[in-house]
Amino acid sequence: MSIAYDTLVARDKKVLCQTYGRYPLAIERAVGSRLFDVDGREYVDLLSGIAVANLGHSHPELLQVMQEQAGELIHVSNLFYQPRQVELAEKLLGTCACDRVFFCNSGAEANEAAIKLARRYMRTVRYRDAHEIITLTGSFHGRTLATLTATGQQGRIKEGFDPLPEGFRCVPFGDIEALRASISGKTAAVLIEMVQGEGGVLPLPEAYARQVQDLCHEANCLFMVDEIQTGLCRTGRFWAHQHFDLAPDVFTTAKGLANGLPMGAMLAKEHVARGFAPGSHATTFGGGGLLSAVASKVVDILLRDDLSGRAQDLGNLACDSLRRVQAALPDKITAVRGLGLMIGIELAESGEAVHAALRERGFVCNLAHGKVLRLLPPLVISTDDLLAFAAALEDILSQAK
Ligand SMILES: Cc1ncc(COP(=O)(O)O)c(C=O)c1O
Repeated sequence: MSIAYDTLVARDKKVLCQTYGRYPLAIERAVGSRLFDVDGREYVDLLSGIAVANLGHSHPELLQVMQEQAGELIHVSNLFYQPRQVELAEKLLGTCACDRVFFCNSGAEANEAAIKLARRYMRTVRYRDAHEIITLTGSFHGRTLATLTATGQQGRIKEGFDPLPEGFRCVPFGDIEALRASISGKTAAVLIEMVQGEGGVLPLPEAYARQVQDLCHEANCLFMVDEIQTGLCRTGRFWAHQHFDLAPDVFTTAKGLANGLPMGAMLAKEHVARGFAPGSHATTFGGGGLLSAVASKVVDILLRDDLSGRAQDLGNLACDSLRRVQAALPDKITAVRGLGLMIGIELAESGEAVHAALRERGFVCNLAHGKVLRLLPPLVISTDDLLAFAAALEDILSQAK
């Protein structure tokens, strides 16, 4: 490693809160589906900044919008009507069955907004003291106190943060009877991911997803979907809930919305959105001019270039080739699963060494829960890059003892 790398790591360790277990890699530049480290070495990006750079890095059309919009209006606050914000809301609503949008700055804030809306809707529109939010084991919904509490994982993620907010319940993933038994008059909403990303790329079975929606309707509570990782064409539909024709009362998005600029959104049906009134929820930066203009262009490009179709086709191709690797090495790979370009490769043993070997060969991906190689490539990645990754993985696994 170069001195520049070592120096950077030492400075990082001195001045930043050490909350991340970083890869031994310092990225300086990124273009399309390529990352370049401080030594100029090139990597195939199979992570997209964790499902963010869906259109690839430094997309020329987005750079142009950034430049033009920055010269016009970057931020003015939500005390004003803003043309770019309204345009973006209209475009997003054109992709789904919701009626209103609240813009914010991250995934956690989008879920926080959804949780607050569910509670306030129950109290102010339905006149019910229904405040509980039910989520699934293995889920991930963010790191604010409420979204962390909603997150269905235990261990370090929650340690030391007591007392956590009240009013959250977690039920086993895939067990509809457990959900039925947990729903009560106090339930405001059930919040699910269509594919648990941080949980290790676990797609929700179709029948179960439908049953969750049906149960919510029967129990008069809200059906809410966290599309922060699955949304914006990643899984082969514009929104992952559209695979099963579901119609959530509320859903959330973030990550790829502005392709790298921090932006989140909560979308809600008309009657539910009435739960918010002027002053009941707000954020300074949400839906600012620059962010909205870039996100608007992102939506245009996703639709124009049919990137959901591409994600579906490339996802099928990648999964087919990875399943061939699994068939050749069944003692090394226990499962290949995913939806579109959200793919998990579950290894039989700890994946640290394989993950490092892939990086050595120039492929950057994520390792979830120590055993699942998680691929979230830009939706514009080439077929050749995906096939080269499968070949490298096969080679590495065949050499492993
Ligand atoms: C499904 C899901 N929900 C919420 C979040 C939190 O998003 P953010 O990190 O932007 O707060 C994430 C982030 O990984 C996520 O994958």
